[in-house]
Amino acid sequence: MKQKEISRREILKVTGAAGAGLVLGVGPLVGRGSRQSPLIQRPIPSTGEKVPIVGIGTARRYSVGTSSEERAPLKEVLKNFADMGGKVVDTAPSYGTAEIVVGDLTTELKNREKLFLATKVRKDDLKSGKGELKASFKKLRTEKIDLIQVHNLVGLDLMLPVLLEMKKEGRIRYVGVSTSRNRQYPDFIKMMKKEDIDFIQVNYSLASRTSAETILPLARDRGMAVLVNVPFGRGRLFGRVGDRSLPDWASEADINSWGQFFLKYVLSHPAVTCVIPGTAKMSYLTDNMGAAQGKMPDRGMRQRMEKFFDDLPS
Ligand SMILES: NC(=O)c1ccc[n+]([C@@H]2O[C@H](COP(=O)([O-])OP(=O)(O)OC[C@H]3O[C@@H](n4cnc5c(N)ncnc54)[C@H](OP(=O)(O)O)[C@@H]3O)[C@@H](O)[C@H]2O)c1
Repeated sequence: MKQKEISRREILKVTGAAGAGLVLGVGPLVGRGSRQSPLIQRPIPSTGEKVPIVGIGTARRYSVGTSSEERAPLKEVLKNFADMGGKVVDTAPSYGTAEIVVGDLTTELKNREKLFLATKVRKDDLKSGKGELKASFKKLRTEKIDLIQVHNLVGLDLMLPVLLEMKKEGRIRYVGVSTSRNRQYPDFIKMMKKEDIDFIQVNYSLASRTSAETILPLARDRGMAVLVNVPFGRGRLFGRVGDRSLPDWASEADINSWGQFFLKYVLSHPAVTCVIPGTAKMSYLTDNMGAAQGKMPDRGMRQRMEKFFDDLPS
């Protein structure tokens, strides 16, 4: 089935923003030798603080045990990510042992201060919600968490006031709400219109473009930063393209791999602040961080990307 086209209003916004260069700040260098180029950064609207536009998601693959064998590849990723200038690491209490693994490894690497740690709360009663929040500080081994998001709207009315209070007290820096389910969009939109939050987190990819019709423009209007989850459809987008070569025109936006093709599609939407692909291997890290550099697709290329993807056999 064909995906819905991005709305005309959004295309116009993208054209304007991409034409003007979408690049709102540049950070540390990544790459080797003459190919070094700066990581693109974008501001969090509520404060103006800039973050690099590619982060890391930790669902599933960071839920490992305590053996150094299991943890070594993740340690290498978290070390190199921070060394490259990467910041945003997204996790959650519901991702098995991921919070513990991130807390332990960043402590061993002594690089917690270089990172922007985002986690979530997913409880629909106050007592267990507060307990889960308390545990996140312990598991992440930090005094301050950069962002806590109400996970999938669970317990929103109870947990949002708690998070806002924690922000006032200085225990967390930003407050957000996440979803990755299209059926939650109507409630998510109601929440966005009503609540005064810093971040939303939402699913958006070439295979799932509905959030670009309503949620992403609303985030822009409301001055909310946007983290994009499942940009690879949990890896399924790679299966859709199979062993095809990239189209020649992809090089016009400095795209060198399918991973960068999928990420730069998401990142060339003007409402998007940062994308958080699940990244648990060094080869993925190097590839995905390449999407935080160089040119971004303009309106014409975004349309070509959509057509190319929609024409693939499903
Ligand atoms: N409601 C929510 O709040 C919510 C929901 C979902 C996700 N999230 C967050 O969003 C993050 C991203 O979502 P996701 O991890 O579920 O899915 P994803 O980012 O769409 O896909 C991740 C998978 O893609 C593959 N991959 C990653 N980089 C690659 C590359 N350069 N080349 C080839 N394959 C690559 C890996 O598959 P293999 O490991 O199989 O090789 C990886 O596990 C999560 O980790 C989580 O932090 C939040």
